[in-house]
Amino acid sequence: MTEPGRLEPGAARGRGLGKLVLCGEHAVVYGHPALAVAVDRCTTVTLSRDLGAPPVEGEPRLAEALSRVVEPDVAVRIDSDLPIGRGMGSSAALAVALVRARAALQGEPPPGAEVVFERAMPVERVFHGNPSGIDVAVSSRGGLIRYQRPPGRSPTLTHLPAPRWRIVVLDSGQVGDTAELVAQVASRRPGIDDALDRIGALADHAGDCLDDLPALGALLNDNHELLRRIGVSTPDLDALVRLARDAGAYGAKLAGAGGGGVVLALVADPEPLLRLAADRGVAAFECRPAPEEPR
Ligand code: PMV
Repeated sequence: MTEPGRLEPGAARGRGLGKLVLCGEHAVVYGHPALAVAVDRCTTVTLSRDLGAPPVEGEPRLAEALSRVVEPDVAVRIDSDLPIGRGMGSSAALAVALVRARAALQGEPPPGAEVVFERAMPVERVFHGNPSGIDVAVSSRGGLIRYQRPPGRSPTLTHLPAPRWRIVVLDSGQVGDTAELVAQVASRRPGIDDALDRIGALADHAGDCLDDLPALGALLNDNHELLRRIGVSTPDLDALVRLARDAGAYGAKLAGAGGGGVVLALVADPEPLLRLAADRGVAAFECRPAPEEPR
């Protein structure tokens, strides 16, 4: 993970973890369960009360998100080793890091996971419109989580024991806009509701075979097919899934909203896939599950 350097006096820092959805993206927006795992990549926000803080440039939504949490005279530094807009929860990690850094700057004791969730969700909504909350939950809690938000009710989340998986991430290099993809999926309902139901059922089943890598891999493959069916995959993502299977992965699927972003592959040994990806000029890296955060 990134180490953003020494903390100056008067400055404060917070961190949010990246994540991968193992099973259940998109369906989770409609009340189905999903499984997501925090990974060993993160975003760190450093805040200092430095009058004359330079304006934040770039994505307009970034300035809007920051303004929800910090005053204009607070200098904001963002360090991250998460690829942006690739389905690895970069906006949720930013929201969580920002909320934690802001609490520290105010001299508050570190807020608990529920408080971080409540404060970070408005920031996540700036980027994602109608997020299920799974990214924020995993980013602030770490570990492997089964997450479900039944319509009109508060989410329920359970930590599951995270096995020692080896996960390789293949990056399509294309940015997927989560808000747009979630809106596209909404516009295809109710015609795709059977596929969303099946994705939810897969996520439930996956929770029962976390240690059985061939069975879990087969579920990931099925999940990818269903994500194709609801229209969020791309030819490039399909090709990356095939590449992973050619290298002997137990299973592979797009992870996150799709329309670009990354593919995750569950493997016994990362080396063959990392080598094949390098030969084909595909950016790839191993991601390790990040443990549950201390409460
Ligand atoms: O693309 P990401 O990392 O933001 O993943 C979003 C997961 C979705 O299910 C597509 C949306 C959501 O809010 O749950």
